[in-house]
Amino acid sequence: MDINNLIKQMTLEEKAALCTGASAWSTTPVERLGIPEMIVSDGPHGVRRVPDIHSMANESLPATCFPTASCTASTWDVNLIRKMGEALAEECIALNVDILLGPGANMKRSPLGGRNFEYFSEDPFLAGEMAANFIDGVQSKGVGTSLKHYAANNQEFQRFSISAEVDERTLREIYLPAFEKAVKQAQPWTVMCSYNKVNGTFASEHRHLLTEILKNEWGFEGLVVSDWGAVRDRVAALKGGLDWEMPGPQERRVQAVVAAVRDGELDEALLDESVRRILRIVFKAKETSKGGTFDVDAHHELAHRIATEGMVLLKNNGLLPLKGQQHIAVIGRAAEQAHFQGGGSSHINPTKVAVPFKELQTQAEGAELTYVEGYPIDNSFRQDMIDQAVKLAQPADVAVLYIALPTFKESEGYDRTDLDLTEQQVALIKAVAKVQPKTVVILNNGASVAMSAWIDDVAAVLEGWMMGQAGGIAIADVLFGKVNPCGKLAETFPLKLSDTPAYLNWPGGAGEVHYGEGLFIGYRYYDAKEMPVLFPFGHGLSYTTFKYSNARASAKNFKDVDGLTVMVDITNTGEFAGKEIVQVYVHDQKSGLVRPQKELKGFTKVELQPGETKSVSVRLDFRAFAYYHPEYKQWITEDGDFDILIAASAADIRQSLTVTLESTLKLPCILDKESTVREWMTDPRGKAVFGPFYAQMETEARKMFGGGDERYGNEGTIGMDIMEMFNDMPLLSVLMFQQSALPMHPEDIVNGLLAQVHSMDNS
Ligand code: BGC
Repeated sequence: MDINNLIKQMTLEEKAALCTGASAWSTTPVERLGIPEMIVSDGPHGVRRVPDIHSMANESLPATCFPTASCTASTWDVNLIRKMGEALAEECIALNVDILLGPGANMKRSPLGGRNFEYFSEDPFLAGEMAANFIDGVQSKGVGTSLKHYAANNQEFQRFSISAEVDERTLREIYLPAFEKAVKQAQPWTVMCSYNKVNGTFASEHRHLLTEILKNEWGFEGLVVSDWGAVRDRVAALKGGLDWEMPGPQERRVQAVVAAVRDGELDEALLDESVRRILRIVFKAKETSKGGTFDVDAHHELAHRIATEGMVLLKNNGLLPLKGQQHIAVIGRAAEQAHFQGGGSSHINPTKVAVPFKELQTQAEGAELTYVEGYPIDNSFRQDMIDQAVKLAQPADVAVLYIALPTFKESEGYDRTDLDLTEQQVALIKAVAKVQPKTVVILNNGASVAMSAWIDDVAAVLEGWMMGQAGGIAIADVLFGKVNPCGKLAETFPLKLSDTPAYLNWPGGAGEVHYGEGLFIGYRYYDAKEMPVLFPFGHGLSYTTFKYSNARASAKNFKDVDGLTVMVDITNTGEFAGKEIVQVYVHDQKSGLVRPQKELKGFTKVELQPGETKSVSVRLDFRAFAYYHPEYKQWITEDGDFDILIAASAADIRQSLTVTLESTLKLPCILDKESTVREWMTDPRGKAVFGPFYAQMETEARKMFGGGDERYGNEGTIGMDIMEMFNDMPLLSVLMFQQSALPMHPEDIVNGLLAQVHSMDNS
């Protein structure tokens, strides 16, 4: 397809119309030129295809509801999420969908985020790996994806308008890397901008984010689509780099674009660039013929497998797996009414749903199962329901509680206000556990919940997440040991809300939310504060145990560009076959700017039979050691020692080794007139030209302020160590103090030194 030639044949009106949707779910076709329509559907963990894309009806066609992102991320299994992507693509093909609106790669800044269930992690590396492999899976079948919501869309409160106030380094190191990885590695066909503003500018108009970073720096080849209704000013959005506005039709917007070109306000070449990007994807989509059916049972089975791998056994005092119990008291309405997905645009009409109670019954091998509802659907408190549950649980051999966080507490569109289960659910767990020590709690929720009120009273807790339509089977599998649990948390479970990183800055107000915690979200924060948590990032139990040994690296000294391979032996030291998720964190011993204590930079999942040992390896590249320097405006590495921490969770480091990095970067000199003495002495070029004069400056300073005089010691006449103060003053200011002892004016001296430094830069 000769797209440039096609653009030449299009009228201005046709081009403007192509840049806005024809309906809620489709592009504008141009029949006379053979430009077809392209259909998109939500996303991310199932295909929400409405039967008539031109109607506003919301009821969608049946499709497999896979587990949501909190669960898929907890698998830490990139191959599995890729398979999920392939299955989603097959359903898109069958349901005539060209592009699936997902995955979501936003960070879980606070556990209160209403949409956290749709996002992978608090860690950008893990989220990026998951997003990239999801995209690869879908797109390998000729169906497109939409990586969303770009960027800094981390809350629902005022999500259409609030400005996320976040500094460049934090953006680059925390909020953008998952997008960056997914774009560079998997080239999603589309990227969806978010509703919110970032540092005062709507994401839909954000030239720095859309054009400079996404398209120019990362090399994004696809089109940028708006989130539904995110565009305020169509012309400003086109200028910023937003190619396709959704939903349509929006005749007024089309006319605005036409008028802007005619008035000379908008360069037509810019419109052509968006048209080119859209046409490229429209024609690419048409290369995959649509129609047919998908394998409902096979996809249900895949959803089941993902759920079993993503569930996280949080606590187990030995009660699980269940064995030989004759009477199982099953309590909680989520046992009958599976809670397997979240509310909002990702809501799927499932092909079928596994009922947790029935699945338990199927696997219980003749045991007697009894059931009561335990808590109501709404937020009312019903002591009678608790009394019934207690009566049922007391004489039983074990009580299994299915507790789902209700949708009025968690959904797209609104944030949570606390981390708690409902009052009734907490009272129910406590009352049952009081009469039945063998109590297991199964949770269905999209993000962490507080458990301090009851965790010590129960024998086991299984985090079942929003587990997808087949999750009910997975719970039974884990409870009875048919499957050995192997998921690990992709987010920290804090002890209480006031411990969380964004607590003092959440959710903002008066149009702004300040990301005051900066780089320190999730475990980065709890590490820095040395704060205990309920369950750390990366935590998850198994029915077996694993030993880590023989950690080694491909080199002790290495160059940043060469990276490093880290290896470790893992042995299954228990009686069950099982899988272990091995996590590799990097700790920079000394850095120019403050860095988190440790950061996840690699992981792998390994399956082992009892007694078996396997050697696993993880590759660490340049970025594993680099940080974003806002003054250099690039990712930099610094010479020095790094600890490689090989861990079973963020709080369970099993092996470590130290390696030495040599930076190959030739960084430009960033010294200027305001640079402090310390900065001059830290920069190698600064030290070379100014260093020889440092001692002289010190002598002069001590002479002036009496430091070193035996009456005053180092403190001098003004009662302080003058050099400590001078080190943090601009060199120019220090010289101003010493002006009388200098041969020239301090400004001329500093200018001269700067000239020398810059000439070294250019040589
Ligand atoms: C959501 C997107 C979704 C779109 C279309 C928006 O409200 O934020 O995630 O893809 O609607 O349903």
